[in-house]
Amino acid sequence: MRDNFGRNIDYMRVSITDRCNLRCRYCMPEGARWVPMSEILTYEQIIEICTEAAALGIRKLKVTGGEPLVRRGCPELIRRLKEIPGIQQVTMTTNGILLSQYMDELLRNGLDGVNISLDTLDRERYAWITGSDSLDEVLDSIMRALESGIKVKINSVLFGDEASDEWKSLVLMAKERNIDVRFIELMPIGYGKTFEPISNSRLMTMIRQLYPGIETDESVHGNGPAVYYKIPGFKGSIGFISPIHGKFCHQCNRLRLTSKGILKPCLCYGEGIDLKSVFERKGEKKDDIRRAIRQGIEMKPEGHCFEKKESITENKNMIQIGG
Ligand code: GTP
Ligand code: 5AD
Ligand code: SF4
Repeated sequence: MRDNFGRNIDYMRVSITDRCNLRCRYCMPEGARWVPMSEILTYEQIIEICTEAAALGIRKLKVTGGEPLVRRGCPELIRRLKEIPGIQQVTMTTNGILLSQYMDELLRNGLDGVNISLDTLDRERYAWITGSDSLDEVLDSIMRALESGIKVKINSVLFGDEASDEWKSLVLMAKERNIDVRFIELMPIGYGKTFEPISNSRLMTMIRQLYPGIETDESVHGNGPAVYYKIPGFKGSIGFISPIHGKFCHQCNRLRLTSKGILKPCLCYGEGIDLKSVFERKGEKKDDIRRAIRQGIEMKPEGHCFEKKESITENKNMIQIGG
């Protein structure tokens, strides 16, 4: 379905839990409280919503969290999402800690791709950022995923001065392996407001100095806002997700469903439609859900306002939204 700005909305991010087994500083440091399970959408409800969304033209689903693999039954949900008429692709964004454990089941159930969050290859910095000494588990998951043949992308958020050299080793991950390494500009959402982002245009200048042959990669890698480049001799590509210095809202194709059942038209604003409450009403829900999703698409704003922090109305943390 097209929104009021002519954009085709065919992608929905589905957050299935706000819980996570890491405590990333810019996302959910210690101390945040989980939403009780009774307030979280059940898998049945998620499937009903996705079925109605597919009827309105959603074709691709991205399963997110928190960390999606900490919710029991996640691989089975993937299987059921894949069965929804009209859904062409189901992918997942994960921190990778539990991925190697579930990889075989996820593949059997039809997962089409996996994005793994990894902000550093330095063990100490990894532990500092995430609160957990689990870099090895993530690297093991990346290798398992690559061996399986599934499409793998790395998501790296660089922030703070100490990160100034991080990109060098991360970029090298794409040299010998068919893996896309993507740099995401830190967004001023939740705890993200408390750190200094590293601009992707600055980063690109540094990468170009080291790899002057880097050139635009026009091939399609996914359904998101990343822009890709190829370094000669590298098997994988380097991607940039630049909400701040390369605003991509004119190409926005997405809706977000939070684990509490709020349908969010845009990451930047607090507005949303409470779909969980639709399930609390008596009688047939289908039409109400479909109407609410249509309304969500119609509510989509032209773009974010990250450049004007005082206008950001989203007060939730990324963990409650799903990135
Ligand atoms: P694929 O490329 O299809 O895998 O999708 P994706 O890049 O959208 O998926 P992923 O979950 O890996 O998203 C990476 C990050 O990009 C998110 O966590 C956000 O930080 C950012 N991002 C994704 N979608 C949007 C968006 O609509 N707006 C903004 N501002 N940022 C987004
Ligand atoms: N800005 C940009 N990316 C973020 N992520 C979490 N919080 C932010 C933020 N404030 C990223 C994670 C993960 C993805 C789901 O979202 O690092 O890769
Ligand atoms: Fe779409 Fe909002 Fe993201 Fe812009 S910030 S791309 S409008 S969800």
